[in-house]
Amino acid sequence: SSSAAYEHILISTPKPGVGLITLNRPKALNALSSPLFKELNDALTKYDEDEAIGAIVITGNGKAFAAGADIKEMAPLTFSAAYSNNFIAPWSHLANSVRKPVIAAVAGYALGGGCELALMCDVIYCTASATFGQPEIKLGVVPGAGGSQRLTRAVGKSKAMELILTGKNFSGREAGEWGVAAKVVEGDHQALLGEAIATAETIAGYSRVAVVAAKEVVNKSQELSLREGVEYERRLFHGLFGSEDQKIGMKAFAEKRKPEWTNK
Ligand code: CAA
Repeated sequence: SSSAAYEHILISTPKPGVGLITLNRPKALNALSSPLFKELNDALTKYDEDEAIGAIVITGNGKAFAAGADIKEMAPLTFSAAYSNNFIAPWSHLANSVRKPVIAAVAGYALGGGCELALMCDVIYCTASATFGQPEIKLGVVPGAGGSQRLTRAVGKSKAMELILTGKNFSGREAGEWGVAAKVVEGDHQALLGEAIATAETIAGYSRVAVVAAKEVVNKSQELSLREGVEYERRLFHGLFGSEDQKIGMKAFAEKRKPEWTNK
C-alpha cells in the first residue's frame, strides 16, 4: 500500500511486521480534523486486516504529535449538528475496534484530542520534552474523546481533576513518572520513533493470536471487576490451548530453539 491515497497522513512499513502511521498536517500542528481522522481510521483498519502487520505505531513530528481536535472546524458547530452526527464518535474506532497493538510515539504537543489520541493507544512512548495536556476548559468545553475517563484511570482522580480543571500542561517526563507513558526517551523525535518501532517489531515477532489475546485481556482489566477480569483471562488462556502456536511455542521451548509461528 502507498501513502498516495492519503492527504493528511503518511503510511510506511519501517520494519517487517510494523505499520507506521505519521500524522502529517504540520502547518496545523497535526490538528485532528474529521478528514484526517477518516484517513487514520482507514489506515488502522487496513493494517489491522493485513496479515503481514503485527503492530502499529502512530506518531507526528518533532513539534507536534497532535495539538488537538481542529478548533477551526469545531468553532461554528451547533449542539444539534454535534449531537445528530455524533461528532467525534468515529475516533472510538481506535480504542474499540483495532485488535492489534498500537503504540503512540509522542514528541512535541499532545494537547486535547492529541492527548486523548495517545491515551487511546495501547502503549505511549514519549520524549522527555513532550507537552501533554487537556486544555479544553480554556475553550469553554471539556475533553470530548475520552480524556476525562482515560486520563483519570491513568493518573488517578485528584491529578486528573486538577489537570482538566486548570488546563495546565504536563511534560513527557511527568507522563513517565505518573505511568501515562511506558517509556520516556531523552533524545529527539527520531530517537523516540526508533524505540517505538523496535518495540513494535518485538511484538510483531510473536504469535498474532497470542498478541491479540494479550491486548484483549489487559483491556478487560479496565472494564471488569477483578474477579470477572481474572475469569475472563483464564477462559482466553484456556482458549489458546486450541491454537497451533501454543503447541509450536511450548515445543520450541522444550527443544531449545526459536518458535516459527503460524499465527494459527
Ligand atoms: N486546531 C486548529 N488549528 C490549530 C490547532 C488546533 N487544535 N492547534 C494549532 N493550530 C494551528 C494554529 O491555528 C496555527 O495556524 P495558522 O498558522 O494558520 O495561524 C498553526 O497551527 C500553528 O500554531 P501556533 O501558531 O498556535 O503555534 P505555536 O507554536 O505558537 O503554539 C500551541 C502551539 C500552544 C500548541 C497552540 O497552537 C495551541 O494552543 N493550540 C491549540 C491547543 C488546544 O487547545 N487543543 C485542544 C483542542 S480542543 C479538543 O481537542 C477537543 C477534544 O477533546 C476532542
